[in-house]
Amino acid sequence: MNSSETTQKKFKALSAPKGVPDYVPPTSAEFFAVRNAFIGAAHTAGYEHIELPVFEETALYARGVGESTDIVSKEMYTFEDRGGRSVTLRPEGTAGVIRAVNEHNLDRGQLPVKLAYSGPFFRYERPQAGRYRQLQQVGVEAIGVDDPALDAEVVALADRCFRSLGLTGFRLELTSLGDWDDRPAYRQKLQDFLRTLPLDEETQHRATINPLRVLDDKRPEMQEMLADAPLMVDNLSDSSREHFETVTGLLDDLGVEYTINPRMVRGLDYYTKTCFEFVHDGLGAQSGIGGGGRYDGLMKQLGGQDLSGVGFGLGVDRALLALEAEKLQASSGRRVDVYGVALGAQAKARMAKVINDLRQAGVSADMSYGDRGLKGAMKGADRAGALYALVLGESELNNGTIAVKDLQAHDQTDVDITSVVGELQSRLGQ
Ligand code: HAM
Repeated sequence: MNSSETTQKKFKALSAPKGVPDYVPPTSAEFFAVRNAFIGAAHTAGYEHIELPVFEETALYARGVGESTDIVSKEMYTFEDRGGRSVTLRPEGTAGVIRAVNEHNLDRGQLPVKLAYSGPFFRYERPQAGRYRQLQQVGVEAIGVDDPALDAEVVALADRCFRSLGLTGFRLELTSLGDWDDRPAYRQKLQDFLRTLPLDEETQHRATINPLRVLDDKRPEMQEMLADAPLMVDNLSDSSREHFETVTGLLDDLGVEYTINPRMVRGLDYYTKTCFEFVHDGLGAQSGIGGGGRYDGLMKQLGGQDLSGVGFGLGVDRALLALEAEKLQASSGRRVDVYGVALGAQAKARMAKVINDLRQAGVSADMSYGDRGLKGAMKGADRAGALYALVLGESELNNGTIAVKDLQAHDQTDVDITSVVGELQSRLGQ
């Protein structure tokens, strides 16, 4: 039996890996609109685009994000490539940006270096609503100037990103984690306090390697025991306190509302001083729609100059869920503005030219394909959400005209086919 005689084997349909979302139409239009709104806001604030590798040497994250974090110790997609090097799919963007800034000496020019990026990040987390293994972020980093005004700019920019989508059901939480000099004394104080508590073995272990993380324990009995724990904001040095007060003062001036959450624990170890999170109340457990902070010391840690930085990562997936929770839409829901319906081979060829001319003039346009009758083809216009349909049949062809149907006003006018592009441009206000 040769291969042509074998019947084709039936294969099981494949699905995307667990915890990895697809964005297909119409949701993909929302995804695109959200991501572009964030990127657009960043560019408007002078952040330049940086395109980063999706995988890096594993050591970058071990050193940058911190060995004791959940991200590095439990959630990384790490593998050996065929050359025996350990590489990791990026779990976040900041470490990669700093690596690239160092490698390309961007920090030797005008400071601050302001960069924006977007794309997928990978964390092997337990998937649930709003928590994915491939997550999408838009991030910015402002590197090289230790100025609290930059912290305020970055926070205000994130706030503007969410507000530009119409979102209102979120709040901004802010705290200061102090600087590298403030930390050891506070860490000691917190550890001394934790030692007085009847902690289970795992928590005791956490208290020795990363006591700050114990504050994040969500169990009610733990929260009760931790009620009197010393807090970093009460143990800041004068300079860190001044820095924080300047940031909050500037945010007040900019009209950005916030609450101070002294128990905020971020999942990355590089933060110093200002730390913030945007929390949406309509999302259940995975309520963080964006977060960031200052990371003085990270660049040095990664082998560069001792320069400071501040930035954020906004969750595009979660912003989409927030829009859904608030019953808002980020996109127009319109695939194209104009949809052509041509009846007959000759009309189709002429319509193809009109559609091409419209596209060239910057008007979004599509047309029906295949041999559909007028009614079937008009359904295509409807599904595309078009504002105008163009109809071209035999009689229009003979007259040198084309019918322009306004699908909202439900009226129709015949227009000279040679002037239809200009006519639609002016109707669409372009
Ligand atoms: P992050 O807080 O780990 O920060 O992530 C930023 C945002 O990404 C979160 O607020 C959340 O909206 C989204 N996100 C994180 N994990 C998931 C997940 N598993 N599924 C869906 N969305 C998720 C960072 O990554 C830092 N690099 C941000 C930064 C930039 N800090 C300074 N510069």
